[in-house]
Amino acid sequence: MTDSARCWAMIPAAGVGRRFGGRVPKQYLELAGRRVIDHVLGLLLDHPTIAGCVVALDAADAWWPEGPFAGDPRVLRVVGGKERCHSVCNGLDGLVDTGEAGTEDWVLVHDAARPCLRRSDLDALLAALDDEPVGALLGIPVHDTVKRVAAEGGDGSGVGPEIVETVPREALWRAYTPQAFRLGLLHRALTRALGQGQLVTDDASAVELLGLRPRMVEGHADNIKITRPEDLPLAEFFLRQQGRID
Ligand code: CTP
Ligand code: MG
Repeated sequence: MTDSARCWAMIPAAGVGRRFGGRVPKQYLELAGRRVIDHVLGLLLDHPTIAGCVVALDAADAWWPEGPFAGDPRVLRVVGGKERCHSVCNGLDGLVDTGEAGTEDWVLVHDAARPCLRRSDLDALLAALDDEPVGALLGIPVHDTVKRVAAEGGDGSGVGPEIVETVPREALWRAYTPQAFRLGLLHRALTRALGQGQLVTDDASAVELLGLRPRMVEGHADNIKITRPEDLPLAEFFLRQQGRID
């Protein structure tokens, strides 16, 4: 980043982890001696370019105060909302309210459930923001053959619907996080999307609805979002493979 804009991180962490199940939300589960969310905060706050961080937590969250970042002055906490997009919007409101972040500052939105983000991918994303007019996000090209299927059909127990067509995959990428946008633009985009009842599943979608075209930056496939129980040992494997744990 070449301009004088500062850079903030926004971590939506207000989900209950319905697909993962269990009593403790997945972002608070232990992964190689540290909670999932603390891996994320550690990596982001360690980065010299990141000035501070806002986390969106569930109103009934009982786990955050137990962690090492609960009293950290670099971390602002806000109450999340019904869907991820509401939580991110609340986080941006909170950031604006501090009076410390300007509309031209960058915000990197990163899921609390993605603890395997590599420092080198974060650096690649930050580098891509040089002269980037809209914003950028990490992702990877789709390598599998992709099928469009009928809206109905299948027996609900693994036997699925019929194929309608094969979708050319050359122009398809998976969208990961972090997703980086100017604070003012993303705030405006999300407020507008929510006002129109569009519950966007990522931040770029809100910006795309304004007719703008964010840029994909190729990251690594190990930046998984912990979603189901089998993802937790997989995340541990990736952290070990990256040399971040013994
Ligand atoms: N998230 C959030 N506020 C919500 C829903 C999700 O801040 N109302 C956060 C989650 O905590 C997570 C990220 O958004 O860090 C990605 O969401 P997802 O993986 O879907 O997590 P959950 O919504 O908790 O899981 P599930 O959809 O299985 O319930
Ligand atoms: Mg969810």
